[in-house]
Amino acid sequence: MNKLFARSTALAGLAALALCGCAKKDDGTITMITESGFAPYEYLDGGNIVGVDVDICEAVAAKLGKKLVVQDAKFDAVIPSVISGKADLAAAGITVTEDRKQSVDFSIPYVKSGIVIISAKDAPYKTADEVKGKKIGVQSGTTSDTFCVDVLKQEPERFDNPPTAVAALKSGKIDCVIADIDPAKNCVKGDDSVFISSDFVGEPEEFAIAIRKGQPELLATINAVIGEMLESGAVEAAKARHDARYAELRGAEEEAAE
Ligand code: ARG
Repeated sequence: MNKLFARSTALAGLAALALCGCAKKDDGTITMITESGFAPYEYLDGGNIVGVDVDICEAVAAKLGKKLVVQDAKFDAVIPSVISGKADLAAAGITVTEDRKQSVDFSIPYVKSGIVIISAKDAPYKTADEVKGKKIGVQSGTTSDTFCVDVLKQEPERFDNPPTAVAALKSGKIDCVIADIDPAKNCVKGDDSVFISSDFVGEPEEFAIAIRKGQPELLATINAVIGEMLESGAVEAAKARHDARYAELRGAEEEAAE
């Protein structure tokens, strides 16, 4: 190979790498990244990550003719992983925010949500005003975290996910937890020592899948899959199925702990 040609191919390779931000070749897989402490959207069942987000991404993978690989990470690392090209799909009950829209593209939303306060039944908190100045637990990097910092103007206690924050509440280390409504309900289901505020404390939120910017075809495929799954009721059905399965697993866990 002539030297000049070799150099220009190397440069073209570099340029392609810079464009796609990754060196991944097509090996027939598509990678989803998530944080698995967020039932019913993602949770561990017998060592596997399952949940509504996994079901949606499985359907996306099937439509693309690829095999889905699911990776677990801290929530703070989920969006950075698609930006760097380490993963293709960030699916983690991710709330669409203006801030995040600057760095990733979002699919159409598939769930409406909001954040609530979880507290002890004998010291219940119902509003944001009531928790100001209290020790508040949140999952690091989430909209609950930004709510504490930006709206309540205080630093929260940061945890890896809602279940670990709720465990700290139950052992008296913190006064309350702020978390997304569905995972909040799931991690206290059947536990009558805990209270959940009935109103959202922040703005209404919507969950969507995030991908690296500039992939219109992938985005269109994801949107088509979500559109079909919303229309057929598959998202709702997956939610009900995973709520039930998680309750079963939690029940089993509690029995084992007794
Ligand atoms: N909806 C919240 C957010 O986007 C929390 C998401 C946490 N997700 C998870 N899989 N742990 O900030």
